[in-house]
Amino acid sequence: MTYIDWDEKYSLHVKEIDDQHKNMFLLFNKLQDGMRTGKSKEELENALSELIDNTVIHFATEEKLMQQFSYVGFVEHKRIHDDLIADARELQKRFSQGRITLTEKVSVFLTDWLTDHILDMDKKYAPLFRSESSS
Ligand code: FEO
Repeated sequence: MTYIDWDEKYSLHVKEIDDQHKNMFLLFNKLQDGMRTGKSKEELENALSELIDNTVIHFATEEKLMQQFSYVGFVEHKRIHDDLIADARELQKRFSQGRITLTEKVSVFLTDWLTDHILDMDKKYAPLFRSESSS
C-alpha cells in the first residue's frame, strides 16, 4: 500500500493551508488502511467520499484566498482544481457502480493527485499568501 507521510517539502508555511493538506494526507492514509485491511465496499466508499469532500472544501479555501489576494494564476489553478475533482468523482462513480476495484494503481493515481499538485501548483502561490498573511 502507498502511504503519504507529511514532509517539510510539502509545507507552504501557510498554516491554514498546511493544516488542510495534512488532513487530506491523513484521510488518504485512512483509505489506504481500509484497503489494506479489507474493509467493506461501503466503508471504502465512505473513506473515499470523505477524502474528496475535504478536498473540495480545501480547494474552495485556496480559491477564496487567491481571489482575495488577486493571484494572477487563479484561473489556471482553478481549472486544474476542477479537473482534479472531476477525475476523482469519475473514480468514485466507477467504484460505486462496481466497475473498478480500489487497487495499488488507484492509490498511485491519488498519491500523484495530492502530492504533485501541492509541489507543482500550490508552491507557486505560497510566497504571495505568506506576504499577504503577514501584512
Ligand atoms: Fe492545495 Fe491547489 O490545492
